[in-house]
Amino acid sequence: MQFQKFNESILIIDFGSQVTKLIARRIRDLGVHSYVITPSELKKIKDYSKIKGIILSGGPSSVTKSKYQSVPKNIFSKNIPILGICYGLQLIAKLYGGKIKSSNKRREFGRAFVFKKSRSLLTKNFFSPKVAVWMSHEDAVVKLPKGFKQVAFTKNSKLTIIENKKEKIYGVQFHPEVTHTDNGKKIFKNFLFSICKLKKRWSIASQKNRLIQDVKKIVKKDKVICALSGGVDSSVVALLINKAIKKNLICIMVDTGLMRKNEFKYTYKIFKNKYKLNVRLINASNIFLSKLKNISNPEKKRKIIGNLFIKIFERESKKFKKIKYLAQGTLYPDIIESKSSTGSKTSKIKSHHNVGGLPKKMNLTLIEPLKEFFKDEVRILGKTLGLEKNICYRHPFPGPGLGIRIIGNVTREKIKILQEADHIFINELNENNLYHKIWQAYAALLPVKTVGVMGDSRTYEFTCLLRAVISEDGMTADYFSFPKEFLDKISNKIINNVKGINRVVYDISSKPPSTIELE
Ligand code: XMP
Repeated sequence: MQFQKFNESILIIDFGSQVTKLIARRIRDLGVHSYVITPSELKKIKDYSKIKGIILSGGPSSVTKSKYQSVPKNIFSKNIPILGICYGLQLIAKLYGGKIKSSNKRREFGRAFVFKKSRSLLTKNFFSPKVAVWMSHEDAVVKLPKGFKQVAFTKNSKLTIIENKKEKIYGVQFHPEVTHTDNGKKIFKNFLFSICKLKKRWSIASQKNRLIQDVKKIVKKDKVICALSGGVDSSVVALLINKAIKKNLICIMVDTGLMRKNEFKYTYKIFKNKYKLNVRLINASNIFLSKLKNISNPEKKRKIIGNLFIKIFERESKKFKKIKYLAQGTLYPDIIESKSSTGSKTSKIKSHHNVGGLPKKMNLTLIEPLKEFFKDEVRILGKTLGLEKNICYRHPFPGPGLGIRIIGNVTREKIKILQEADHIFINELNENNLYHKIWQAYAALLPVKTVGVMGDSRTYEFTCLLRAVISEDGMTADYFSFPKEFLDKISNKIINNVKGINRVVYDISSKPPSTIELE
């Protein structure tokens, strides 16, 4: 397993919580390598010497039922510190003879306050004196398991934090990994450095050379093909593989005509001239536009764009002989999401430009050098590889591009209008030092024409919607609060400079219930 490449890792056993990957991130952010596995993968581990701590995640299972997810009891006898979170705590309590009850009286969803009962290594500097935490549980531990003591409680649950100091086993009912929990980081810090006695030794920058060597070892003298979009993931993949095998990497850039203003040409030039990559540019905007003609259903648009992209990529790659590998920018969250907690594969892998459909048909072996990393880590890796800041810290951009930001049917005229509006918006964000405070921002064109007045004339033009969100991983998002002056300025600038738009609106919805993209 991947973690065996590292001298020290924290193993996270995923019972299916939506936020397990945040646990992994928090730990890596603290300078320790973490690795997520499903309970069923545990039996594959023969050597525990590199595992310095184990975390049992939350999940939908209930130990009050006759069947519930568990772990082999021998993981508790290896003298490795263990921290249970939510379901993880309940499972520890169950396995050690405690009592767990499901009851409306004890359930807690959302914010709760935790109060200190006794001292613990886990809660050093955590209480101040009460702490707001994020809860999501129906079951609660009602009787302490043998050998454990109560560390903290809330109004509804007496046993919110428990510990067995002798055996180094700890449990928290709340989720320290989510940002809504105050001081959540302290819990992880204490677990890693005081309980597991780890040192801060993990950093993504230190992985660069190993990754390059790994690619060399796998690919040898063979050829690799890669779809380069100019997004951070495919850019880092291309630079990394190029460092390993030079010209044996062939990058294909398919210009769908649905990119932001000037973006494609800019990216092409950078990769060709600055990084000296073997890049082939395919201008396919006409065919994309003709296939999208009169199509307004979002799902149809996505399918048309995705399938056409695959077709063109496939056609172009056939022009090269003897390619063995297809490189993809799959990230660690995609890998975590693609495994269910029972170990079965689901079909959730999201891949850039839907290239995921390619290998089966094309008979290529996948090479995914970023699959161990989170997006932020990929950015750091990009920086150490010398990737332009502009590309490295660019906001995420969806594979179908402006095709799903022009609501309704897509025309060349609308693309041009939207590119101009978006360009103004993004430039203003940069000039006002707001771009990097925002996770993703863009302009969209609504299929709504309204009446306006410019000078002495009546106008009847499109509405531009601006969206800007803050988020951690795109799974949830809040809209960004702009100062009123910024909104005034941007509205004015777009309406005055972009012919075809006479109204600007700002989207103030969060995800959920809305999504980040409109289609
Ligand atoms: P939603 O709209 O689902 O978007 O809230 C979450 C994140 O995913 C991006 N996104 C895509 N990325 N291909 C991609 O590569 C796609 O088809 C796609 N659709 C949405 C979106 O921009 C946001 O960052």
